[in-house]
Amino acid sequence: MTREPRSTLSRTDVHLWIASSDGPDGEPSSLRELEPVLSAEERNRADQFYFPHDRAQFVMARSLLRRCLSQYADIEPSAWEFEFNAFGKPAVHRRLGVDLDFNLSHSRGMCMLGITRQRPIGVDVEKRDARISLPDLIHQVMSEPEIEELRRLPARAWKSRFLDVWVFKEAYAKARGQGMSLPLQDISFLFPDGRTPELTLKPSLADRPDNWLYDFIKVPSDFHAAICIGRRRDEELRLVVREPAQL
Ligand SMILES: CC(C)(COP(=O)(O)OP(=O)(O)OC[C@H]1O[C@@H](n2cnc3c(N)ncnc32)[C@H](O)[C@@H]1OP(=O)(O)O)[C@@H](O)C(=O)NCCC(=O)NCCS
Repeated sequence: MTREPRSTLSRTDVHLWIASSDGPDGEPSSLRELEPVLSAEERNRADQFYFPHDRAQFVMARSLLRRCLSQYADIEPSAWEFEFNAFGKPAVHRRLGVDLDFNLSHSRGMCMLGITRQRPIGVDVEKRDARISLPDLIHQVMSEPEIEELRRLPARAWKSRFLDVWVFKEAYAKARGQGMSLPLQDISFLFPDGRTPELTLKPSLADRPDNWLYDFIKVPSDFHAAICIGRRRDEELRLVVREPAQL
């Protein structure tokens, strides 16, 4: 018997799945019922986490990935296989012959998965954390124009702006697949009207901003999240946020 895919995803669709590995009380859910879809290696990794929150987040992220991919192809959740580029970006293994792209991000119990068809994608979610040391990070991550723009804001808004810049930069770097090995200070996400991001890239990136569609993802107010998707100039894409309850 073949397993029918339950969702369609066209070349211009972008599906975003968001799930929490914490229960309503903020404690990590046990998620034992999700584990059978993980590979033996993933189950082994899950058992090596010391903190229950980290274990739950890992199990949620990997099971979400497997169950969501199976929405779009005739492959059982436990049968997905992955390969990795030189920077660690996972992709569906080419021997499966499936043309889906995806990217995962997780932070403090929040798991986010973007899925496209033959289109690069990067997502990033970060929790606003009291322990972030802004002075160090600002100079490691932000470009000169970003720092100038930040300095024009009241100091109480700096952490929030830094995290906005961070999630956009990371979503872009993850879409390109090179992660934080890209020259981060040559990438600028500026917010001229205070809300709408505008990307500029120095020649070292060998890329053009209009190759990408990028936007905020709506998440609870103590999180920041962004998505970046490859597109041809002015190509219209349709972003749909999907509920794991639909799985
Ligand atoms: C990818 C990277 C940006 C992740 O940042 P993060 O904020 O810690 O983590 P996130 O939760 O947002 O994303 C993690 C997920 O991104 C994916 N990922 C891993 N490497 C990636 C890459 N190069 N590009 C895009 N996505 C990547 C994985 O699915 C990973 O999930 P996992 O940890 O469960 O395996 C960061 O680890 C990085 O820069 N890696 C590149 C390292 C590198 O250059 N290595 C060179 C070879 S040694």
